[in-house]
Amino acid sequence: MIIAVDGPVAAGKGTLARRIAHIYKLDYLDTGALYRAVGLKILRAGRDPEDPAAAVDAARHVGDVALDDPALREEATGEAASIVAANQEVRAALLQYQRDFAKRPQGAVLDGRDIGTVVCPEADVKLFVTASAEVRARRRFDELIAKGTDTTYEAVLEDLHARDARDAGRDSAPLKKAEDAHLLDTSKLDIEAAVNAACKIIDAA
Ligand code: C5P
Repeated sequence: MIIAVDGPVAAGKGTLARRIAHIYKLDYLDTGALYRAVGLKILRAGRDPEDPAAAVDAARHVGDVALDDPALREEATGEAASIVAANQEVRAALLQYQRDFAKRPQGAVLDGRDIGTVVCPEADVKLFVTASAEVRARRRFDELIAKGTDTTYEAVLEDLHARDARDAGRDSAPLKKAEDAHLLDTSKLDIEAAVNAACKIIDAA
């Protein structure tokens, strides 16, 4: 079984996808971490994420970055990730790894932006997880404050709008709901309610 979980930044798809993987005993891949690893590699090399040559070079050596490196979670890394993610060659370099992961015999859950549309168009279940920009910004703001980051809700909201525009507006694999994806709006759901809603969709598939 392959489950594709897509959606915008801070919609709760990571937490949801992890929980689904645990419940259905599937392997889990956070594909955003791959793009973040490319972004981090560029930042660490002192290069510019906007530079296509630097981005492609980093994508080819993305295995050098541990996917549990805490620096992957920093805002600057997310920003760099969303810039390199617009590069078609970067996306192509990361595609095979994601497809191979999806083919694991025990089945897999992949979360990202283009899993249902590009990486696994044949997925058995596709979820498009979203929430209002204000709710997503509030969740991200609370997370950052809990981590001790000095920021404001307004700054987080502005950042999120910029990231949404970049993810949805790019030519290459833009963020969009696959036609056969189930829409899951978590604006008014806590994580337990979101997991229950997702399980209902998966069980009915
Ligand atoms: O999901 P996360 O915020 O970790 O992703 C970081 C960035 O990587 C996103 O803003 C997006 O631009 C990019 N990404 C992507 N395709 C994916 C996963 C992430 O373009 N499948």
